[in-house]
Amino acid sequence: MKILILHGPNLNMLGRRNPELYGSFTLDDLYEELVDEYPSIEFTYYQSNHEGELIDVIQESLDEDYDGLIINPGAYTHTSIAIRDALELVHFLKVEVHLSDITKREAFRQVDMINDVCDACFMGKKIESYFEAVEYILKQKENA
Ligand code: DQA
Repeated sequence: MKILILHGPNLNMLGRRNPELYGSFTLDDLYEELVDEYPSIEFTYYQSNHEGELIDVIQESLDEDYDGLIINPGAYTHTSIAIRDALELVHFLKVEVHLSDITKREAFRQVDMINDVCDACFMGKKIESYFEAVEYILKQKENA
């Protein structure tokens, strides 16, 4: 099982951002927790503060044999038609994840450009949202 995990802008700053919304763990802590919890899954991680770089990685993933993509595009969730278009090209499982519940935050965060091009979305449970995303992919693969 191979899963690509993509993070957008400012998520490299986890641990220094508002802990009530995002938790007090760092992005490396998050990766470590996923590896500990799912030792048999091969995770590939990528974080960028740049929209085009995220799009390049999504495009490159098309030629890899991933079973799933978990993406937290950060603020690009609310603005990026370009990331949405790139995700439309992906034909393996795509899961949107957020640490916070964007449906209960400012109006501008309730705009979600990628929701309907992803297979599922988990949010509002900090690190647990990622576990739910992995569980979703495992379940879909089991039932396939
Ligand atoms: C976020 C929510 C976004 O609105 C915000 O810009 C982020 C993090 C989350 O995981 O809750 O950077 O995607």
